[in-house]
Order: sequence, then structure tokens, then C-alpha cells
Amino acid sequence: KVLILDFGSQYTQLIARRVRELNIYSEIHPFNKPPKNVDDYKAVILSGSPMSVRSEDAFHPDLSEIRGKKPMLAVCYGAQYLAHFSGGEVAESNTREYGRANLSFVEDNEAFLEGIQVGSQVWMSHSDTIKQLPENGKLLASTHDVQNAAYKIEGETTYAIQFHPEVYHSTDGKQLLENFLVNIANVNPDWTPNAFVQETVDDLQAKLGGDKVVLGLSGGVDSSVAAMLLHKAIGKNLYCIFVNNGLLRKNEFTDVLEQYKGMGLNVKGVDASARFLDALAGLSDPELKRKAIGKTFIEVFDDEAHLIQDVKWLAQGTIYPDVIESVSATGGPSATIKSHHNVGGLPDYMKLQIVEPLRALFKDEVRRVGASMDMDKDLLGRHPFPGPGLAIRILGDITAEKVQILQDVDAVFINGLRESGLYDKVWQAGAILLPVNSVGVMGDERTYEKCVALRAVESTDGMTADWVNLPYEFLQKTSNDIINKVKGVNRVVYDISSKPPATIEWE
Ligand code: XMP
Repeated sequence: KVLILDFGSQYTQLIARRVRELNIYSEIHPFNKPPKNVDDYKAVILSGSPMSVRSEDAFHPDLSEIRGKKPMLAVCYGAQYLAHFSGGEVAESNTREYGRANLSFVEDNEAFLEGIQVGSQVWMSHSDTIKQLPENGKLLASTHDVQNAAYKIEGETTYAIQFHPEVYHSTDGKQLLENFLVNIANVNPDWTPNAFVQETVDDLQAKLGGDKVVLGLSGGVDSSVAAMLLHKAIGKNLYCIFVNNGLLRKNEFTDVLEQYKGMGLNVKGVDASARFLDALAGLSDPELKRKAIGKTFIEVFDDEAHLIQDVKWLAQGTIYPDVIESVSATGGPSATIKSHHNVGGLPDYMKLQIVEPLRALFKDEVRRVGASMDMDKDLLGRHPFPGPGLAIRILGDITAEKVQILQDVDAVFINGLRESGLYDKVWQAGAILLPVNSVGVMGDERTYEKCVALRAVESTDGMTADWVNLPYEFLQKTSNDIINKVKGVNRVVYDISSKPPATIEWE
């Protein structure tokens, strides 16, 4: 495996992803909290950073365990760091060194540069520049504006590049990472979804033995794949609980429950709709609604978990971005990112140990792992759906009647997307019930009924999003279907706001 030491660059996660795309497992650790057993890693990559090596409080890690002992690739800040503290010189740049550039010089006969030619496009993003290489530095590549774009340290397997190979705009970036990892560091690219499944199942068996494990299924991709891995490892000792909070999509509880049973999972469906509706009665503030739902979920789950005798473990579908965010929030170098709710776990009184088989995976890797276990394509391709469900898509207070109206509207919209082949082109979609009545006319009658908004967005991670340009014909048909089929709704609007400044959900 490969160690990525994070100096807080916005691109650090991308380095991990590119390395993994090469079928090589990589882990990100904050530079100031490196893992204990560095010997387990075959190569080390230093990330970029928003910091300048020239600033007084520049990050200055002790690399004595690594440098010269292991193959090391220093990217951007890393490259400047090596230069600045080892006899070279770094200064403020006076030419533009942001954006696309092309290599104007590439050293011949270097395994590190195999397949990389003059003219290759690279992505620069830095305000300092390396004026002079460090001791024993040998120049490997330049661009028109950046003389020292890549170098190595003679006598070591230490390489440094000023540009960002992890960004897609560096067209040969992946090749460069592969050259470093395979040619220089001799890492074997054998980390595939199948290998991950095998390894994880073995680890889970060793860790869990004959213990019982409880897991909350949500119908989403992460908890479902986590369940399948555990099921493979410990079979009937995995107890799954799927709670109906009454705020799921239309028929979702029964449909997904059937699907889980079809997968051989030992799953108990708990219909707690009434309990959730009670807890929500009279609440209209979004955060209060979220809190009431979270609290009720824990109570229901706790009651169920207590029915399983001697259960020792709680399994969660936490994935890698959640883990990195939490590490950063507790003292890593990147700026304040929210600490994720999945990682904190359940209240102490549950006294369960936590097992998280997907902790090391990105979302698309979770999907690939699911596919390699032959899980249903529709299940793996499902849009994300928020934990509080339709409660945060019904603006204002929640009643059973409003939930039913919104479920019907949502079903027309989502089924329409599926039937038109648009579902997989959209990252997330849903309907919002507005606390607004407006006048309409049906037949010869005046109506005064609800208005719903439709929302469909494109995104990669939900952090930013754009509304989807759905075909007018589709919107027209969907609007007609909703107004004709769903009693109580006489107006449909389409949300054309991007995030930021709007958010995906309305609450
Ligand atoms: P926003 O509305 O913040 O949503 O742009 C970004 C993504 O997060 C989901 N979301 C939630 N998921 N509990 C969840 O589990 C929540 O309280 C919550 N609020 C928003 C939202 O559906 C979108 O995918």
C-alpha cells in the first residue's frame, strides 16, 4: 500500500483516487499524524498545500524515517519543501503559474518519465517557485514558465514535481503516478474489487469470530454493500434492521425489504412510521425536525438491538470521505470541514464495538465492490436520499396526509425519470411540497390547492451541484401527470438554482 501525507491541499483526495484507479491501495494521513508503522507502506507521496514553505509557520515534518529509505514522490508543496529545506531555494513567483502549461523539456531515459513527451499538458497551481534545486537535485522536466517543474534527488528514490499529476488536466498525470509506483517503487497493482472483497471477508472473519453484529440498513448503497460483505463473512450472525420512519419514498419500505430478503440477508423490517409522525407533530423548524428524527431513530434502533441477545458489534456503512473529513476536523492540516455524523457512532450506553467494512472506500469504489458481488444494478445506482427523508422536503410541519401527497408526486417524477432513461443521468432528484396554496381551475371548478417543486441535480459529491436541463417534453408530461393523478396538487414548478448559493434540499 501507498502512504499519502496530507499537507492540506484541496487535491489530496484526488491523489488517493488516481492511485487507486491504478489498482494500488492508498491511504491519506495528516502529515502531522503519520501512521505508526511506516514500514507497511511501499511508497510515500507528499501532497500539495495552501501554505508557503517560506512562511514562518510552514509545515515542517520530520521525514527522516522516510526520505532516502522509501520511494518518495513530492507534489507541489512537497517539491518546494524538499528544495527549501535541503539546500535549494524557493521564492515568490513573478510569472503566472496557475492553470494549464505544457512541458517544454523532458529528460531522456528516465523510468519516472516513461511515455511522457515534450508538449504534455500539466496543471500548475502555486504562487511560489523553485529557483534552485536542492543538493543532489537533477532536473527532469520544465515548462515555458517553470524551469524546475520536475526533479529527482540523485542517489535516492526521491522524485519531485511542481505540477499536480492527480488533476485530470494533467493529461499524463496518471502515467506519471504509475511510473513512480510501478517502475520506481515496484508496487504491485493488484488491488481490485474482487481482491478487496476477499481480503475484507477474511479480516471480518478474523475480527468478529462467532460474535453477533447488528446493522441498520437504509436502502442506500453504502449500508447495503456493507451488509453484503458482512453477510459473506459471518452469515446468520449479521442482524440487519431496516426502519420505516414513514418518510421513505412510496412503497420503498416493502420493495427494498423484499430485495434485501432476496439477497439472503437476515433482515427485520420495523415499521415505526407512527412513532416518527408523533415525534414530528407540530414541528416546522428544519433543524428541530432533523433532531426529532435522529432521536427517534436511535430509540427505535436501540429497542430492536436489545432484542438480539449478546450482540457485540454495530456495523456502519461509513465511507472514506467521512473518515478523512473527521480526521481533518480533529487536527489535520485542512481547514474546518464538518465532522460527519456517521463517524461519531451511537450513544455510549449501547456499548457496542463499531465495525466499518467500507471505511477505506470512495463512493464509486463501493459501487464497484457491490457489482463484483453481483448486487443488483438498480440498488447500486440509486440516487442518494437524505436520512430524514421526505420530512425535509415537506416545508413546514409534517402530517400523514402531506407525506402521502409528496410520496405520490415523487413517484410520478422518479418513475418518469426511469421510464425516459434519464434516471442515471441525474445525480439526485426529488419533489418538494411547498407550504403554498394557489388558485387553479379544473373542469369548471375553481381549485385552491398545493404547489410542488421538482428538483434534479448533477453533482459528484453533493458539495456543489447544478440543476439538470431536463427536456421540456419530459417536464411537460411530468407536470400533467402529477396534476392529473395526485389529488390536492394543482401547480408544479421546476427548481433552477445551483448549489451554491442554494442547497440541494430546500431545508
Ligand atoms: P444539501 O441540501 O446540503 O444536501 O445541499 C447535500 C446532500 O446531503 C443530503 N442531505 C442529508 N443527508 N441527513 C442526510 O443523511 C440530512 O439531514 C441531510 N440534509 C441533506 C442531500 O439529500 C444531498 O444529497
